Amino acid sequence: MSTLEQLKLELKSLGKEYAKIKTLPESERKSFGQEINAKKQKIIEQIKNLESKNTEANIEPIDITAPFDVNSKPTESIKGSKHPLMVELDRVIDIYSRMGFDVVESRQLDDEFHMFDALNFPKGHPARDGYDTFRTEEGFIPPAHTSTMQHRVLKQYKNNLDEGGQIAVVIPGRVFRNEDVDATHEHTFYQCEGVFVSKDATFAQMLGVLKNFFEAYYGQDLKIKTQPGYFPFTEPSIELLIEKPKSLGGKGDGWLEMLGCGMIHPNVLKMAGINPDEYKGFAWGGGIDRLVMLKYQLNDIRYFESAKLDFLEEF
Ligand code: DAH
Repeated sequence: MSTLEQLKLELKSLGKEYAKIKTLPESERKSFGQEINAKKQKIIEQIKNLESKNTEANIEPIDITAPFDVNSKPTESIKGSKHPLMVELDRVIDIYSRMGFDVVESRQLDDEFHMFDALNFPKGHPARDGYDTFRTEEGFIPPAHTSTMQHRVLKQYKNNLDEGGQIAVVIPGRVFRNEDVDATHEHTFYQCEGVFVSKDATFAQMLGVLKNFFEAYYGQDLKIKTQPGYFPFTEPSIELLIEKPKSLGGKGDGWLEMLGCGMIHPNVLKMAGINPDEYKGFAWGGGIDRLVMLKYQLNDIRYFESAKLDFLEEF
């Protein structure tokens, strides 16, 4: 215990002394009272002195190497709960992991090369504008999609192919777009990317994986359909739609666009050092916010980043 703490305790214990006064004979009360008053003044002075001194002397050093009980309960002030998006993201990752996918986290600051060049966007191509990317003064890019990780993952896992295996990775991450914000558009949201490469990956395999995923996530059989899309990094490129789940009021009449996907463009494989004549791949990427909004029938994406406690507490 520091001297300061000791003094404060002493001061507190003087309370008991004061209580004693009443029990003393009349004649002794005055001098006893004066005695404790003097003691009290002295302690208060010492405390003031210590407190005004350089604080360094009074602060107990923290021993960060001291043993720590990992099972101890969190302090009241740091107790809390996970954000609903993080809880759902864990569910998403859990489903893909059980299917056999590795998980690699995306990053929140990236560059022109990974955002565009490595994804086969031709230089100066208008498709680059379609992503409403933010840029830092230094020219870095807060990623507008998790596809920025494709090149890294393909390179990192290329050994799997050399050893006769496959690449199967999902990449969850936070993404940013310079959007006009409204009920269905946020400047900050979450995506999960998927990349699969093998000697004989097919379009049908991709549809199977995605249908399985959505059925596992919504806990029911679902119909899927596709419509043509355009992404420079896939050929062919498609958009995947699911029939609005029955449990969420769907009557077999509503189709919802859930993600973009396709067969990985040969140029993307080549740039990562994978021979497109030998290997095929498929990839997909979709918003987590949208997935969760449908599950809980939420109609405003802005709630997620709004710090509205009454909204968050509903989960
Ligand atoms: N990155 C795209 C987007 O945010 C979605 C996407 C489309 C991801 C096709 C993919 C893909 O991996 O193959 O709009």
